[in-house]
Amino acid sequence: MIAAALDLERVPAHVACVMDGNGRWAQSRGLPRTEGHRAGEEALFDVVEGALDIGVEWLTVYAFSTENWRRPADEVRFLLDFNEDILLRRRDELHQWGVRVRFVGRRDQRVPKRLLGLMDDAIRLTEHNSRMTLAIAFNYGGRAEIVDAVRAVVSAGMRPEQITERTIARRLYDPEMPEPDLMIRTSGESRTSNFLLWGLAYSELYFTDTAWPDFRRGDLYEAIRVYQERERRFGRLAPNGAGPSNASVAASNGDG
Ligand code: FPP
Repeated sequence: MIAAALDLERVPAHVACVMDGNGRWAQSRGLPRTEGHRAGEEALFDVVEGALDIGVEWLTVYAFSTENWRRPADEVRFLLDFNEDILLRRRDELHQWGVRVRFVGRRDQRVPKRLLGLMDDAIRLTEHNSRMTLAIAFNYGGRAEIVDAVRAVVSAGMRPEQITERTIARRLYDPEMPEPDLMIRTSGESRTSNFLLWGLAYSELYFTDTAWPDFRRGDLYEAIRVYQERERRFGRLAPNGAGPSNASVAASNGDG
């Protein structure tokens, strides 16, 4: 699939990826699971370049979930070191490409100090870039994110009747993050697995059997082609349907 086949006027502004299947990819080749993660780096950077080429504004990738701590200690250790290693080796390249790096997730004591430092370095280095934002979900859980937002609301002493959807949205890990238009999950699993729970409410979901290490920008473009064939109604009726107009439905939906 090539970019020329896409409608460049309707590229999703925010694409979110669950980079799944690294371990199975490696095991099916008789390799240790960690080799699958290593192979996933090339997929990630090809997707970043491909997204830049067609004008995607935000790309969010699931690098480490709050559930990933339950993996065997040596795999957890590998993933922590590997994330540090990628940040060190590739931050300058991301910077040259004009990518702004952000992180979403819990900064708790389980995340090594050195990794937190490298995250902050990458954020600072790239903070003025504007071609695309790469949000890396690290020690991220969608329920934890909502819990943390609710804690912030309670700490602020808000009264129940003051609380709207906006109250929560403004307290998510990155309040500037737009809701994903498209979520891609590789490797044959059809679940969201606690990824960006709040924002995914109206996202188009795309699942592919391709394992993450085999995923390339052409696969991203295929996902976007399918996305462009879908009709996003956000709870309304189709524009030419027999029902009320979008405007009157939106008005009756309250704070939507
Ligand atoms: C899921 O595959 C993948 C991960 C848990 C990690 C993916 C991380 C990277 C590709 C590196 C990202 C790093 C940065 C700095 C953005 P899995 O192990 O769950 O595969 P399986 O389902 O086959 O077991």
